[in-house]
Amino acid sequence: MSHDLKLKSYWNNRYETGAIWGEDACPSAVLAQECFREHAVRSVLVPGCGYGRNSLYLAQQGFDVVAYDISDIAIAYAAEQAGRQSLPLNYETGSLFDPAFLGEKQFDAIYLSNIIHLFMKEQREQVLDIMTSLLKPGGILAFSVVSIYDTGNYGKGEEVEPNTFMKHKDKLLHCYDEQELDDMLKPHYEFLKKCLHTQVEPDPSGELEELKLWFVAARRK
Ligand SMILES: C[S@@+](CC[C@H](N)C(=O)[O-])C[C@H]1O[C@@H](n2cnc3c(N)ncnc32)[C@H](O)[C@@H]1O
Repeated sequence: MSHDLKLKSYWNNRYETGAIWGEDACPSAVLAQECFREHAVRSVLVPGCGYGRNSLYLAQQGFDVVAYDISDIAIAYAAEQAGRQSLPLNYETGSLFDPAFLGEKQFDAIYLSNIIHLFMKEQREQVLDIMTSLLKPGGILAFSVVSIYDTGNYGKGEEVEPNTFMKHKDKLLHCYDEQELDDMLKPHYEFLKKCLHTQVEPDPSGELEELKLWFVAARRK
């Protein structure tokens, strides 16, 4: 099975039971919208939007949102939720690694909630390059990722690459330290905000976990 097909199968399986982390927007989506508002953002891309908890929130805040995910089950759920409201929100099914379906469009901002840490180094770099290409110059990249201060995940399970662990079957988690964030963004971005925050939600086994995440907002140079 190809990498994307494996991801689709894993996530479709997870989403079969619906809104697995609840309907509220993530704390990082609230931080992102504050930053987007400060910088007069209008169009926002939400890659890996899952079943839409954050994309719906951002559209309700008045941003013009395009959101997509590899899981068609999640997108069907998200589109149904949004369909009942009249919002500037479009959903697509598509892969992070093949954004051709978005055409030539570039966005004022991109928001990724708990996406970049799901991959090995080479793919994380690929995702960042693709996101940079989808942002207008001066556009804002906002995201949350797991930190090395997340004691429930850091060091748990097999370490498949430095700071990348397989605690739950078929689900990688890369835990970031501050230096890595700095090195990763330095070539093409300037930081607007970088802070730690907590997000509480069920993990893949159903146990509540207290994620210790970085929130980053950075402007494309
Ligand atoms: C941890 S979940 C986060 C979902 C959503 N951002 C949220 O916070 O509710 C990761 C999401 O990434 C999606 N995903 C994983 N690999 C993907 C890929 N190659 N292309 C697009 N989406 C992908 C999954 O389907 C899943 O919805």
